[in-house]
Amino acid sequence: MNAIISPSILTVEKDKIISDIKEIENCGARWIHFDVMDGKFVPATTFSIDEMRTYLSNTRAVKDVHIMIENPKETAKQYIDAGANYLTFHYEACKDVVEVSSVIDLIHEYGAKAGLSVKPGTDIKVVLPFLNKLDLVLVMSVEPGKGGQKFINKSLSKINLLKKYKEANNLNNLLIEVDGGINDKTSVSCVKKGANVLVIGSYLFNHPDFAERFKKINE
Ligand code: DX5
Ligand code: ZN
Repeated sequence: MNAIISPSILTVEKDKIISDIKEIENCGARWIHFDVMDGKFVPATTFSIDEMRTYLSNTRAVKDVHIMIENPKETAKQYIDAGANYLTFHYEACKDVVEVSSVIDLIHEYGAKAGLSVKPGTDIKVVLPFLNKLDLVLVMSVEPGKGGQKFINKSLSKINLLKKYKEANNLNNLLIEVDGGINDKTSVSCVKKGANVLVIGSYLFNHPDFAERFKKINE
């Protein structure tokens, strides 16, 4: 697979998160994806900042933190202090484009790489003005909030539009990430359209031998 796999531990039971992270790292995972939900931007709540600090300090992988929370401007710093390497926030969580821009700047100031995500119903063109200062753009291919949902096919054209824009503007270091419903088939389509990072949750972890699946999908 010509892309980075970022395993998402969202569906792993809390008492198994640290051991599953170690196991998937031993299989060669270079990134781990952490989903933070606040019960406001999305109905579910996931990890407290203390839990995040514990998980993030227990991995040597690239810590890919996706915050599905309101008010990212106020909270970005605590996730970076906790160890996030990439911090990805939602376009829809900001009150206007000025705020989007200032959150990106803050993330950089605090020493992390900045990612911007859009929900399935948001026009992908809204991210274009920010791509030259972003490190990563995240296309949500399911409605954010829970794992195990079906991949939304129209995400493929969003990925492709980003790839074309990236090439036309020589944004060689920008990573295009896709998150939600990724499996052995949808992963291939996403990479063909230009995805560089694939977030994979339930396809890996809701399986007794996730190490086997990780190896297979990496081939
Ligand atoms: C959904 C999360 C995803 C989730 C993906 O809101 O952002 O990272 O873990 O899970 P799967 O791979 O099961 O769709
Ligand atoms: Zn995610």
